[in-house]
Amino acid sequence: MAKRTTSFVCQSCGAVHMRWQGRCDSCGAWNSIAEEQSGGASVPSAQRGGRRGRLIALESLAGVSEDAPRIRIGINEADRVAGGGLVPGSVLLIGGDPGIGKSTLLIQASAALAREGHRVVYVSGEEASAQVRLRAERLGLAGAPVELAAETNVEDIVATLSEGGRPALVVIDSIQTMWTDTVESAPGTVTQVRSSAQILIRFAKRSGACVVLVGHVTKDGQIAGPRVVEHMVDAVLSFEGDGAHHFRILRAQKNRFGPTDEIGVFEMTGLGLREVANPSELFLSNRDHGAPGTAVYAGMEGTRPVLVEIQALVVPTSLGTPRRAVVGWDPSRLSMVLAVLEARCGIKLGAHDVHLNVAGGFRISEPAADLAVAAALVSSLSGSALPSDAVYFGEVSLTGAVRPVSHTGARLKEAAKLGFASAVVPQGKSAGTEAGETGLNVETASSLGDIVATIAARGPRRAPRVAQEG
Ligand code: TYD
Ligand code: MG
Repeated sequence: MAKRTTSFVCQSCGAVHMRWQGRCDSCGAWNSIAEEQSGGASVPSAQRGGRRGRLIALESLAGVSEDAPRIRIGINEADRVAGGGLVPGSVLLIGGDPGIGKSTLLIQASAALAREGHRVVYVSGEEASAQVRLRAERLGLAGAPVELAAETNVEDIVATLSEGGRPALVVIDSIQTMWTDTVESAPGTVTQVRSSAQILIRFAKRSGACVVLVGHVTKDGQIAGPRVVEHMVDAVLSFEGDGAHHFRILRAQKNRFGPTDEIGVFEMTGLGLREVANPSELFLSNRDHGAPGTAVYAGMEGTRPVLVEIQALVVPTSLGTPRRAVVGWDPSRLSMVLAVLEARCGIKLGAHDVHLNVAGGFRISEPAADLAVAAALVSSLSGSALPSDAVYFGEVSLTGAVRPVSHTGARLKEAAKLGFASAVVPQGKSAGTEAGETGLNVETASSLGDIVATIAARGPRRAPRVAQEG
């Protein structure tokens, strides 16, 4: 019988400490250390010492491997984020705030796959089978042959899954509710989550089933507790959105079998999640044409262009230190653009509050938004509206120069498709030729000063309303 030991494990990063303490030395989290018992039974004593290892057959990298085809879910937005479908034998972790729609997305994906004739098992550790069934009924999916279980013991789940045909997809909702007999800690602790995940991952690799684990997210946006699980799985996806808006974004944070910069856009409706094939139309709906302080940014998310509206409000401050509030963009990037405007264009914003918002709750990660942000800021400060049929993109450097960005052609094409008539883009060798193909009126800018001068020359007024997309 292996000796039982007590250890103190940080529930946030998994670091093991000799004694309890208020703050984890490893990740700095407060009050995250919990006492856990380990039986030491997971490693047989023969493996720890004495036994001579078995010889493993080494293979060459060039050797042929059986190329298992990806299984397409049939929901395009999800397939693209996964890298073109599910890879048999892979394990995905999908994280997101409570109530964002993880269970809804997964029951819809399960039903879609099951209807294609694949074996799909949905294990819920949080809801009773009746609740899951009720939801499926409401979504019109009750007829799909998904196998359902409400269970939390991993050994029982794996034993059940091993019976019958190999499942194409197994959904575990959620990994935090799972527990295994091999460790004695309470469900939800790092040790339990890690061991349960390990067992499920081993099952996926052995059987060739694709396993999707649902993970909860903590207040600061990390998948709760087991960061360790993120290292063990093949892909980490996050499902984002905010309560005020109906649309949700599926994003890949890590993917061993595909790109990580693709997004999938969904809209939460009364009948579950609906795919949004053209997100630009959604983000640009309800625009206030001709108001000062707004600029349309032509961005890229992976291989897909996405047009969003950037709104800026610059007002005299009543505080000693002016306020800088940003929603949907990197605050340090805003500070940089403000500093460049001040140092290179002589625009003083030290006595102004600056509010920046990416409309619709979208989050931009590209530096190519610099130019659109600068244009919106200058427009708000001067009270001069930008033409409502123009798009902006380009990276601003600390010298005040506007740098070219990638995918100029794709951005311009999307703008033309949505009825925009002009674009302000960085000077570059390809800008002219690519613009010619789209029929847009392209203005190139080599420095931020050019743009500031153009906007200031328009004078404080609302732009005339231009007939445009709906
Ligand atoms: P859910 O999938 O249970 O979220 P999670 O598993 O991420 O915690 O989603 C629950 C929310 O989705 C709930 O607040 C209501 C909303 N919803 C709809 O608006 N329409 C629907 O058809 C469904 C099923 C849920
Ligand atoms: Mg749920």
